[in-house]
Amino acid sequence: MRTSLFPDIHWVGYVDWNIRDFHSYKTFRGATYNAYLIQDEKVALIDSVKKPFAANLLENIQECVSLDKIDYVVCNHAEQDHAGALAVIMPQLPNATLVCNARCVDALKGYADISGWKIQTVANGDTLSLGQNTLHFLFTPMVHWPESMMTYVPEKKLLFSMDGFGQHIASSERFDDELPLEFLIEEAKTYYANIVYPYGRQVQTTLEAAAGLEIQMIAPSHGVIWRKNLGAILEQYQKWSTRTVEPKVVILYDTMWESTEQMAQAIYEGVLTVPGVTATLMHVRKTSLTQIATAVMDARCVAMGSATLNTLPMPTMAAVMNYVQGLRLPVEFTVAFGSHGWGRGAVEELTAWFAKVQWNPIGEPVKCKWRPDAETLEKCRNAGQVLGEKARS
Ligand code: FEO
Repeated sequence: MRTSLFPDIHWVGYVDWNIRDFHSYKTFRGATYNAYLIQDEKVALIDSVKKPFAANLLENIQECVSLDKIDYVVCNHAEQDHAGALAVIMPQLPNATLVCNARCVDALKGYADISGWKIQTVANGDTLSLGQNTLHFLFTPMVHWPESMMTYVPEKKLLFSMDGFGQHIASSERFDDELPLEFLIEEAKTYYANIVYPYGRQVQTTLEAAAGLEIQMIAPSHGVIWRKNLGAILEQYQKWSTRTVEPKVVILYDTMWESTEQMAQAIYEGVLTVPGVTATLMHVRKTSLTQIATAVMDARCVAMGSATLNTLPMPTMAAVMNYVQGLRLPVEFTVAFGSHGWGRGAVEELTAWFAKVQWNPIGEPVKCKWRPDAETLEKCRNAGQVLGEKARS
């Protein structure tokens, strides 16, 4: 079912209510793959959808025009949630030319046989007139793939922002003023933490380029279209892309026989003694990596604890270490803690990992054998208090 952004520009994408895992991003609220159709003297499709939903895209397009009327298909991003359907739709659009950059062609070739497609490559800053509307191509490399670009339509003050400013939510609403802003910002933050975070410098470059454009609507490839709260989402992107952290302590732990859990609880109690600091306790085996990354993204301090299993951290904690390292999350201060039995290793591994990711330990890790005694729990409370004070500074 199409929705109109303007009388001549329509949303023709797909709402995926059932997706729960997007290459390990837990999409508890589903997702959308937004595609847009501009009906001008020339007709242009902006982006497509995931391959299984190609027929839905074609059906939506045909509510507006017959398939032989499409002149251009703009591919802003070659990732398969937006470009996967091209292999199905391009052969059905007899008069369409694919418009993208050279790096995009290279990536598309890796996924499909594109030898029969008409392709027009564009350079950064190139324009393409459709009649009443003009497409301006703005390259945004590494936001978040090398070929990523955005398409700006000055006549509408409209930016097709590809993954930028997106959120993974399925909804019947298409615009930001139709859903609560706080909810949208939280979902945009989850998206940013898990997809875009490593590329803050490139996001800054994009924001600088966007500042030179008059923009009244941002139409991303996922989630709602921003037409009311542009200031709010741009402000958040400015904050997130400059790696701004909050007075917040996140305590991440996994436990075998509740000893490490008792230590985590004591650290939490220590943080709570410091006014003005938010404390979050997360059992990593009961929490998705997606939620953990979102919580850690703007935390100044993180405590990490694990029981030792076969001389290493628990497998879920190892997964957290791997995921957080890849996202390059900017924690300033940390502490390792954990319990062990006859063999140790988890806390030592965490301590070595802190050096690798350049998180600064506030002091010695807190360790115990079998069960934490009163002295160990007091050390945990003290560590929590120090972390809380560091978080507030
Ligand atoms: Fe939504 Fe990077 O694809």
